[in-house]
Amino acid sequence: MKIAIILGTRPEIIKMSPIIRICSKSSKVTYFILHTGQHYSYNLDEIFFQELELPKPSYNLRIGSGTHAEQVGRMMINIEKILINEQPDIVLVEGDTNTVLAGALSSCKLHIKVGHVEAGLRSHDRKMPEEINRILTDHCSDLLFVPTKEAKKNLLKEGIEKKKIFLTGNTIVDAVYQNLKIANKKMNILKKMNLKKNGYFLATAHREENVDFKERLSGILKGLELVYKKYNLPVIFPIHPRTKQNIEKFNLNLPRGVNFIEPVSFLEFLQLEANAKLVLTDSGGVQEETCVLKRPCVTLRENTERPETLKVGSNILAGTDPKRIARSVDLMINKKTDWKNPFGKGDAARKILQIIEKCVA
Ligand code: UD1
Ligand code: UDP
Repeated sequence: MKIAIILGTRPEIIKMSPIIRICSKSSKVTYFILHTGQHYSYNLDEIFFQELELPKPSYNLRIGSGTHAEQVGRMMINIEKILINEQPDIVLVEGDTNTVLAGALSSCKLHIKVGHVEAGLRSHDRKMPEEINRILTDHCSDLLFVPTKEAKKNLLKEGIEKKKIFLTGNTIVDAVYQNLKIANKKMNILKKMNLKKNGYFLATAHREENVDFKERLSGILKGLELVYKKYNLPVIFPIHPRTKQNIEKFNLNLPRGVNFIEPVSFLEFLQLEANAKLVLTDSGGVQEETCVLKRPCVTLRENTERPETLKVGSNILAGTDPKRIARSVDLMINKKTDWKNPFGKGDAARKILQIIEKCVA
């Protein structure tokens, strides 16, 4: 059996890493990695291959940045050629990026089976490019690996056949469990940055619908300053290039108390998350990781496709209004962190491979 693993951005590399590792060990499958090159800066791309000791992709399309249609179109034209040549039995995609949509569409049009890892997530906000990508990808997939029961319900409601849906948990749990111990042993980012456990906040923001709009981006930055002033703890902010460019473009004042740093490696980020007093974010993966790592999270959005985190109490929605952000931190900061992680036991990759071996003859 031959598996094509298509990926293109930071979170896909991280969340596919447990699947890549398990495929490497298996005697029953061969696989290759097709990287679209949607992310290409060293600290959004190669750093993860090196740190997680992943094999180099067999193909890198170097698609780079562009509008949605440019990215998806260019990816599809190139993916099609490779798939025709390689003839894999199944294509695996993970998540909700333009890479995922391009990979899934190209494959299903060639009648190659598609497996969607992290299927069934819905924010019910069609202004998010990711929501469109998720819906379309789910509807052209043959095997849908859902992380939770809620995700399965979303798919059933949309008329997707039950026999295609498999509850596996989320591979992010595998990735956290596989790497946290190594992170604590190998990394000393806290020492390097002169930070103490519980002595800082961690923040990230990069969603198009937040940071491409001046008012919302400025709201987030002002909110972070309010949090710094109230608690007198620094806010560490590894900054995504999209966010950095927009702060410059909108000529926004840099908030007091916020320490912007370049994006860090996964092991460093895990350490920062695990030891933060609280995390503020609009990232999907970070909402999950904080839940797994038992750190309170304030989500800088009006909705989330990870409602399980709200239900267990690890997360709260704060939007981008500065005062609401500060109030949300007040509500979460001393919260008991004894919630149960709803994203699985860390064996998602193993389950996914077993299902593929059984269903794809
Ligand atoms: C993409 C995904 C988003 C995911 C995020 C993970 C889509 C529609 N968006 O958003 O779902 O959460 O990745 O981080 O697929 N840039 C660089 N270096 C890079 C990549 C991008 O500097 O390696 C800059 C470019 O100026 C680019 C901008 O960041 O225009 C946005 O990049 P893009 O890949 O289009 O979207 P992301 O915001 O990264
Ligand atoms: N991450 C990282 N370094 C950073 C910021 C984030 O390694 O400086 C990791 C983080 O641990 C998570 C993933 O990147 O696994 C989240 O990616 P991102 O927020 O870009 O995308 P999303 O999850 O929103 O799609």
